[in-house]
Amino acid sequence: MFQSKIAGIGHYVPKNVYTNSDLTRFMDTSDAWIQERTGIQERRYADRIGETTTSMGVEASKIALERAGITAAEVDFIIFATLSPDYYFPGCGVLLQREMGMGEIGALDIRNQCSGFVYALSIADQFIKTGMYKNVLVVGSEKQSFAMDFDTRSRHVSVIFGDGAGAVVMQPTTEAGKGVLSTHLHSDGAEAEKLAMYYPGAAAGFGLENPPQWPDQELGGMLMTPQMLEDGTAYPTMDGQAVFKKAVVKFPEVIHEALAKNNLSPSDIDLLIPHQANLRISQYVQKILGLPDEKIYSNIQRYGNTTAASIPIALSEAWQEGLIKEGDLVCFAAFGAGFTWGSALIRW
Ligand code: ACO
Repeated sequence: MFQSKIAGIGHYVPKNVYTNSDLTRFMDTSDAWIQERTGIQERRYADRIGETTTSMGVEASKIALERAGITAAEVDFIIFATLSPDYYFPGCGVLLQREMGMGEIGALDIRNQCSGFVYALSIADQFIKTGMYKNVLVVGSEKQSFAMDFDTRSRHVSVIFGDGAGAVVMQPTTEAGKGVLSTHLHSDGAEAEKLAMYYPGAAAGFGLENPPQWPDQELGGMLMTPQMLEDGTAYPTMDGQAVFKKAVVKFPEVIHEALAKNNLSPSDIDLLIPHQANLRISQYVQKILGLPDEKIYSNIQRYGNTTAASIPIALSEAWQEGLIKEGDLVCFAAFGAGFTWGSALIRW
């Protein structure tokens, strides 16, 4: 049985910076409101045309492959986590396979929102442990700006999210005690509609008090048209307080679960990289675990919440900044829509 390790890391963020003050040009909000409640100062939005969830994933993947010292042709499986795919179907994994000129390898899309990257990493870990694959490319990428609604009804949602991508190459290692020590995945659909986007979907609108009438019944109620985004029929909804309350319980719980499984305690963590949901959630988790500032990584101030991309972007930046050394214990933890949550412990 092999262990898996992260052999290469890369990230890509779009060039377009939108500060909180920029948002006040097209919505009713303020820098003070956003910073006080989320810690976010600015976020990136992809080019409206020409830049996609897949294209950003490709850019991050190129860097991860180069740092792992392998070519695209050597990748033997793709796992692509996103909630904002280019198409309703097919998934972004196959689009990335085509774009990067890879062989006819397997490609899997993961739809687990903010926990998507941890789920994807866990699946890659299983494939490597069994010896089935040797170079698994794990990507988290989001172009969320295309579905943002800047109306007052969802301004508490739209100020939080941003675009970007991160990727890692997972490979086997035979070094004892190194690599992914364990992963832990959970879900609870009881509050699925507390953070949701109903379109496109076969039950679209069922969670809304007043589901909109379809503009064209011949569409069969299945598809989201560009007009639905433009006219505001389709937009993400969130009960922010419900998300907050659940997140501050589940983040520490799933980190403790990982530590207990490996007979470790919070003081053994060298770097916690939480999903960048909200700075206040991260600070709460830090306090519960008793971690000093230097042991928790935050870049939400600059990128907002990039959902499935947030952990690999943060990992890539932390690694570039030299914050991760050989032998360090690194912990990933995520919580998001579904609700789904998970953690991974890695000995570097
Ligand atoms: N700018 C200015 N005012 C706003 C904005 C905005 N962007 N959004 C909402 N408001 C107003 C509301 O209209 C309301 O006004 P009122 O008092 O006059 O009615 C007031 O601010 C309070 O609104 P609430 O929605 O109750 O705001 P709350 O204090 O709960 O903060 C927030 C909202 C920041 C979303 C908070 O609930 C939160 O942090 N929740 C956690 C959710 C989260 O982090 N989600 C991340 C994505 S999920 C994940 O990654 C795990």
